Amino acid sequence: MTRKVLVTGGSGGIGKAVAARFRRAGDTVVITGRDGARLAVAAKEIDAEPIACDAADPLQVQELADALGAELDVLVNMAGGNTDFGRPRASSLHEVAESWRANLDANLLSAVLTTTAVLDKLRPGGTVINVGSIGAEYAGSGYGAAKAALHAWTAGLSAEIGPRGLTANLVSPGYIEATDFFHGRLTEKRREALIAATHTGRAGNPDDVAATVEFLASQGARHITGQTVHVNGGAHTTR
Ligand SMILES: NC(=O)c1ccc[n+]([C@@H]2O[C@H](COP(=O)([O-])OP(=O)(O)OC[C@H]3O[C@@H](n4cnc5c(N)ncnc54)[C@H](OP(=O)(O)O)[C@@H]3O)[C@@H](O)[C@H]2O)c1
Repeated sequence: MTRKVLVTGGSGGIGKAVAARFRRAGDTVVITGRDGARLAVAAKEIDAEPIACDAADPLQVQELADALGAELDVLVNMAGGNTDFGRPRASSLHEVAESWRANLDANLLSAVLTTTAVLDKLRPGGTVINVGSIGAEYAGSGYGAAKAALHAWTAGLSAEIGPRGLTANLVSPGYIEATDFFHGRLTEKRREALIAATHTGRAGNPDDVAATVEFLASQGARHITGQTVHVNGGAHTTR
C-alpha cells in the first residue's frame, strides 16, 4: 500500500532527508515550509508535493489540512528551530516574553496545531513522529523548554490516539551537521565541544535522524509508542 506522508519543515535540513527517504520507499510525500521558493526547489529535487505553510499559524495550518486530502498515514512534525538565534539578548520582561513565545510557537504550537488539524485523517496503522532536541534535557532556554514540553505532550498524545490504532513518538536529535539550524553561527570551538560530547566521535547527519524516523513509521515499530528516541551518538544517555 502506498502511504501518504506529511513532513512539516521538509524544505531543508533534516526534514528534507526524512521526506526523501519516504519518497525513495515509494510513499506519496507532502512537504511544507514558510519560504515558498525554497520549498519548491526542494520538492522538485526529491519529487515531493510542496504546500507552503507556517506551522505556527492556525489559519495556514487549517488551509494545509484542507489541501491535503482525506487520508494520511504518517505525520512528521519537523518544523522548528531556536528562534533566539540572531535575536539580541532580552533586556526587558517584554523581550523575554517575546523570545519565549516565539520558541513555544515554533517548536511546540507548530506540532500541536498541525497534529490537531490532521488527526482525523490518520488511518489505523498510522503514526505521528515529533522532533524534539537534546536541548530538552537541559532546558535552560525557551527553545529547550519548548522541546521538553513537546516531549511530554507526545506521551499524552500516544495515550489519546493509541486506541485508534495510531502511535506517537518523538525523535530527539543531538548535534546534526549540514543543516541551517545554527544559521551559520556555530563556532569551531563549540562544534568541537558538541562532537567531543558524543561516544561516536562525530557529528550526526540528517540521514541518521531520517533512518530512525523511517523505522518508527515501519511495521516493525507498531508496539513502540509514547517514547522519546535519542539520536545523539551518546551525548545524552538514557536507561
Ligand atoms: N540541526 C540540529 O543540530 C538539531 C538538533 C536537535 C533538534 N533539531 C530539530 O530538528 C528540526 C529540523 O531542524 P534542522 O536542523 O533541519 O534545521 P533547518 O535546516 O533550519 O530546517 C528547518 C526546516 O523547518 C522549516 N521551518 C522552520 N520553521 C517553520 C514553521 N514555523 N513552519 C513551517 N516550516 C518551518 C524551514 O523552512 P522555512 O524556514 O522556509 O520555514 C526548514 O525547512 C527542528 O525542529 C530542530 O529544532 C535540530
